[in-house]
Amino acid sequence: MYTKTVMDHFQNPRNVGELPDADTVVEVGSPECGDTTRIFLKIDNNRIVDVKFQTLGCAAAIASSSMATEMIKGKTLEEAWKLTNHDVADALGGLPEKKMHCSMLAEGAIRQAINQYRTKQGLAPWTE
Ligand code: FES
Repeated sequence: MYTKTVMDHFQNPRNVGELPDADTVVEVGSPECGDTTRIFLKIDNNRIVDVKFQTLGCAAAIASSSMATEMIKGKTLEEAWKLTNHDVADALGGLPEKKMHCSMLAEGAIRQAINQYRTKQGLAPWTE
Protein backbone atom coordinates (compact mmCIF):
# COMPACT_ATOMS: atom_id res chain seq x y z
CA MET A 1 0.00 0.00 0.00
CA TYR A 2 2.92 2.37 0.69
CA THR A 3 5.91 3.19 -1.54
CA LYS A 4 9.46 2.37 -0.47
CA THR A 5 10.05 6.09 0.15
CA VAL A 6 7.05 6.32 2.46
CA MET A 7 8.24 3.27 4.41
CA ASP A 8 11.77 4.72 4.63
CA HIS A 9 10.52 8.04 6.03
CA PHE A 10 8.11 6.23 8.38
CA GLN A 11 10.74 3.86 9.75
CA ASN A 12 13.60 6.42 9.81
CA PRO A 13 11.88 9.78 10.08
CA ARG A 14 14.11 12.82 9.60
CA ASN A 15 13.99 15.87 11.89
CA VAL A 16 12.04 14.23 14.74
CA GLY A 17 12.20 15.99 18.08
CA GLU A 18 11.99 19.42 19.60
CA LEU A 19 13.85 22.70 19.10
CA PRO A 20 14.27 24.37 22.49
CA ASP A 21 15.19 27.67 20.84
CA ALA A 22 12.49 27.55 18.14
CA ASP A 23 11.14 30.89 16.95
CA THR A 24 7.72 29.39 16.41
CA VAL A 25 5.93 26.21 17.52
CA VAL A 26 2.44 25.10 16.51
CA GLU A 27 0.36 21.97 16.82
CA VAL A 28 -2.37 21.04 14.39
CA GLY A 29 -4.87 18.19 14.46
CA SER A 30 -6.58 16.35 11.66
CA PRO A 31 -10.35 16.80 11.65
CA GLU A 32 -10.63 13.43 9.86
CA CYS A 33 -8.88 11.27 12.45
CA GLY A 34 -7.74 13.34 15.43
CA ASP A 35 -4.03 12.73 14.81
CA THR A 36 -1.67 15.64 15.53
CA THR A 37 1.58 17.17 14.33
CA ARG A 38 3.66 19.69 16.24
CA ILE A 39 6.26 21.64 14.29
CA PHE A 40 9.19 23.74 15.50
CA LEU A 41 10.88 26.29 13.21
CA LYS A 42 14.14 28.16 13.75
CA ILE A 43 14.17 31.17 11.45
CA ASP A 44 17.05 33.46 10.63
CA ASN A 45 16.94 36.28 8.13
CA ASN A 46 13.67 35.01 6.62
CA ARG A 47 15.10 31.52 6.14
CA ILE A 48 14.22 28.25 7.92
CA VAL A 49 17.58 27.27 9.36
CA ASP A 50 16.27 24.34 11.41
CA VAL A 51 13.05 22.38 11.77
CA LYS A 52 11.82 19.53 13.97
CA PHE A 53 8.51 17.76 14.30
CA GLN A 54 6.57 15.43 16.56
CA THR A 55 3.67 13.53 15.00
CA LEU A 56 1.14 11.36 16.77
CA GLY A 57 -0.36 9.71 13.76
CA CYS A 58 -0.26 7.04 11.13
CA ALA A 59 2.62 5.98 8.88
CA ALA A 60 1.52 8.39 6.13
CA ALA A 61 1.40 11.32 8.57
CA ILE A 62 4.86 10.57 9.96
CA ALA A 63 6.37 10.05 6.49
CA SER A 64 4.73 13.26 5.21
CA SER A 65 6.03 15.28 8.15
CA SER A 66 9.51 13.84 7.69
CA MET A 67 9.56 14.60 3.95
CA ALA A 68 8.00 18.05 4.38
CA THR A 69 10.58 19.08 6.97
CA GLU A 70 13.36 17.92 4.64
CA MET A 71 11.82 19.97 1.82
CA ILE A 72 11.58 23.24 3.79
CA LYS A 73 14.90 23.14 5.62
CA GLY A 74 17.10 25.96 4.30
CA LYS A 75 14.22 27.50 2.35
CA THR A 76 12.87 31.04 2.65
CA LEU A 77 9.49 31.51 4.32
CA GLU A 78 7.98 32.32 0.91
CA GLU A 79 9.30 29.06 -0.55
CA ALA A 80 8.12 27.02 2.45
CA TRP A 81 4.67 28.62 2.31
CA LYS A 82 4.24 27.38 -1.26
CA LEU A 83 4.87 23.73 -0.33
CA THR A 84 1.62 21.80 -0.73
CA ASN A 85 0.62 18.38 0.54
CA HIS A 86 0.57 17.25 -3.10
CA ASP A 87 4.25 18.24 -3.46
CA VAL A 88 5.02 16.18 -0.37
CA ALA A 89 2.95 13.20 -1.57
CA ASP A 90 4.69 13.36 -4.97
CA ALA A 91 8.12 13.42 -3.29
CA LEU A 92 7.07 10.30 -1.37
CA GLY A 93 6.24 8.56 -4.64
CA GLY A 94 2.52 8.95 -4.02
CA LEU A 95 0.08 8.18 -1.21
CA PRO A 96 -3.11 6.10 -1.37
CA GLU A 97 -6.10 8.36 -2.01
CA LYS A 98 -7.63 7.67 1.40
CA LYS A 99 -4.32 8.68 3.01
CA MET A 100 -4.00 12.05 1.27
CA HIS A 101 -5.58 13.80 4.26
CA CYS A 102 -2.65 12.61 6.38
CA SER A 103 -0.29 14.76 4.30
CA MET A 104 -2.41 17.83 5.14
CA LEU A 105 -1.11 17.82 8.71
CA ALA A 106 2.43 18.83 7.74
CA GLU A 107 1.30 21.46 5.23
CA GLY A 108 -1.11 22.95 7.76
CA ALA A 109 1.43 22.94 10.56
CA ILE A 110 4.11 24.62 8.43
CA ARG A 111 1.73 27.31 7.24
CA GLN A 112 0.40 28.00 10.74
CA ALA A 113 3.94 28.17 12.09
CA ILE A 114 4.94 30.67 9.39
CA ASN A 115 1.91 32.83 10.12
CA GLN A 116 2.47 32.66 13.87
CA TYR A 117 6.01 33.89 13.23
CA ARG A 118 4.80 36.66 10.92
CA THR A 119 2.25 37.78 13.51
CA LYS A 120 4.97 37.89 16.19
CA GLN A 121 6.99 40.12 13.84
CA GLY A 122 4.02 42.48 13.47
CA LEU A 123 3.40 41.34 9.89
CA ALA A 124 0.05 40.37 8.39
CA PRO A 125 -0.52 36.62 8.09
CA TRP A 126 -0.50 35.18 4.60
CA THR A 127 -3.78 33.81 3.35
CA GLU A 128 -2.74 32.03 0.16
FE1 FES B 1 -4.69 10.18 10.92
FE2 FES B 1 -3.27 9.39 8.87
S1 FES B 1 -5.01 8.42 9.68
S2 FES B 1 -3.06 11.21 9.99
